[in-house]
Amino acid sequence: MGDRLGWIGLGRMGEAMVKRLLKGGHAVTVWNRTRSKADPLVEYGADVAANRQALADCDLVFTMVSTTDDLKDVLFADGGLVAGATKPKVVVDSSSISQEGSAEIRKRLEALGVGYLCTPVSGNAKVAKAGKLLMVSSGPRALYDRAEPYLQSMARKVMWVGEGELARIWKIAHNTMFGVVIQNLCEITVLAEKAGIPRHVFLESINDSVLGSMYTRYKSPVLTNLTFDQVTFTPKLLLKDMDLGMAAAKTYGVAMPAAAATRESVARMVGRGHDHVDFAILLLETARDAGIELTAENVRLSDGLES
Ligand SMILES: NC(=O)c1ccc[n+]([C@@H]2O[C@H](COP(=O)([O-])OP(=O)(O)OC[C@H]3O[C@@H](n4cnc5c(N)ncnc54)[C@H](OP(=O)(O)O)[C@@H]3O)[C@@H](O)[C@H]2O)c1
Repeated sequence: MGDRLGWIGLGRMGEAMVKRLLKGGHAVTVWNRTRSKADPLVEYGADVAANRQALADCDLVFTMVSTTDDLKDVLFADGGLVAGATKPKVVVDSSSISQEGSAEIRKRLEALGVGYLCTPVSGNAKVAKAGKLLMVSSGPRALYDRAEPYLQSMARKVMWVGEGELARIWKIAHNTMFGVVIQNLCEITVLAEKAGIPRHVFLESINDSVLGSMYTRYKSPVLTNLTFDQVTFTPKLLLKDMDLGMAAAKTYGVAMPAAAATRESVARMVGRGHDHVDFAILLLETARDAGIELTAENVRLSDGLES
């Protein structure tokens, strides 16, 4: 392979993903806006760049930031990755962003001679740490073939779904279901508890039913023990994704009543001020609406991710 690799964005996801890449034996130069998150990666073999443009001579630069505007900022603003004379060959972005924003970014990058692959992911930071992410790409097939060995070192499965921004639609659809499932899981857990079934018993039964999934399993410990301070994904990021889902529904003329109701419930949770906590705090809000106060059950449940 021998490509020079760069990485931008060392939040919860980026940090876990780049560690897999480093563990896979690849040399990576990293940059993060808040430098203190980059320095600890030296211990894992990473080089830390002083600024984004220091990554401009890389062959491939991976990005994992929050929103469409953040990605534009990282790439095109003053001092941005592609704002100088030297440009990387390819940008591989895994942030969850809109299809329209991604198309605009593609147009601007390709006009500068920079290739662009979208590679959103399924799985949280713990899943990433365990090497169990699913990564789904779209863009030129040749770019996917070039990036695939690196993606393989971060994921349990990688897929190419087609040209352009199709992977963005895949991710938007995926995260719409992600929101709808947590909404319903909170509703039925509160229903069962109000009727008298302890949460850990109810969740264990769902996890072992035909409805159980990797997702219901890894959310079960937090729903049982109310450890919302262990953040995997924030209410605000979930609202962003539900809004992306509703915007796509409008664009394509698809009625999505379950997603629309979930979007409003998530917006209410955000409006009530839940910020730096796990989005599973939706359970507490659902319980309050049902007139019950929950207490931690302090039962150890497997999240299915421990090795
Ligand atoms: N968490 C999950 O379970 C999960 C799963 C799949 C996909 N995602 C998606 O992955 C992306 C990252 O999520 P996360 O949970 O890792 O978020 P996070 O912990 O909040 O990290 C966000 C990262 O983006 C950087 N960033 C944001 N705005 C920036 C800007 N304008 N300029 C430069 N850097 C900027 C942050 O830098 P600082 O450190 O300086 O703030 C940080 O490194 C999001 O699009 C999210 O929807 C998340």
